[in-house]
Amino acid sequence: MKIREMQDEILRLKKENDICILAHSYQAHEIVEIADFTGDSYALSKLAATVPNKTVLMCGVRFMAETVKMLSPEKKVILSSPIAGCPMAEQMDKELISIAKEKYSDYTVVAYINTTAELKTVCDVCVTSSSAVKIVRALDSKNILFIPDCNLGAYIASQLPEKNIKLLNGGCPVHAAVTKKQALKAKELHPDAKLLVHPECRPEVTELADYIGSTSGIMEFAKASEDKEFIIGTENSIAEHLQYECPDKKFYVLTKSLICENMKSTTLADVLACVKGEGGEEIEMSDELIASARKCIDKMIELGG
Ligand code: 13P
Ligand code: SF4
Repeated sequence: MKIREMQDEILRLKKENDICILAHSYQAHEIVEIADFTGDSYALSKLAATVPNKTVLMCGVRFMAETVKMLSPEKKVILSSPIAGCPMAEQMDKELISIAKEKYSDYTVVAYINTTAELKTVCDVCVTSSSAVKIVRALDSKNILFIPDCNLGAYIASQLPEKNIKLLNGGCPVHAAVTKKQALKAKELHPDAKLLVHPECRPEVTELADYIGSTSGIMEFAKASEDKEFIIGTENSIAEHLQYECPDKKFYVLTKSLICENMKSTTLADVLACVKGEGGEEIEMSDELIASARKCIDKMIELGG
């Protein structure tokens, strides 16, 4: 089957079966084309509670599908690729955080949304990369324990010197693998390009950037900018999407290795199987887990606006 035929079949079946397709912006272009909504983690979380359809198909990674389920427990939520986890979300478990909470007993525990539902049960509030600074600033507490991404945490700390932010040693293996040398090389190859970097990259990389922001922040910045050339320091699909949207500008990847295999494990064939009711994995969570884990997501939406 050709790509166009598969897409037409997906569009027909999702309508017939009352399915809403949500795609994170790291998905491939052909998936973004058939999605009802595409966005960053924050936009998708907010949308999750409002979509009218009976079934939501999440083309992204597991914690994103879990977030949809928590915010809309009455809906059938399907993760497009059962193997699509986020390695960072699995890095820390409840026991580790419980020990840290004993040590930092008067700290507010702020979790990046890239965490398991289980871990969210022991945290006070979630953030995404686009909402983190705003939410942490709005917290009454000066003392913050931020988990699991120490690079995003260091970025938040640099923006909020009035807060006392403790970090643990976690992070995104894809973004954290980008080196200063690679960033300098990309700047040397494209001297007229602005460098736009996700805060999951290491501080030695973000400090070379002209702009630091979430996936949607990077896209908005590039689209609105008067500049014509950009080096994209996040998952390489963002450079591809931007090139489609802004054909008069040039987008370069920071390094060819900036690819999230988990995000990319969803194929158009997977999406087709899911809308036929044959593929993916239905997200199952107990009522207790949902009630306990969603508190910090509700708080994120309350403070994030
Ligand atoms: P955003 O919050 O920018 O969507 O990023 C999610 C993610 O997984 C980045 O690696
Ligand atoms: Fe997780 Fe990193 Fe992939 Fe984002 S890019 S989903 S943080 S592994």
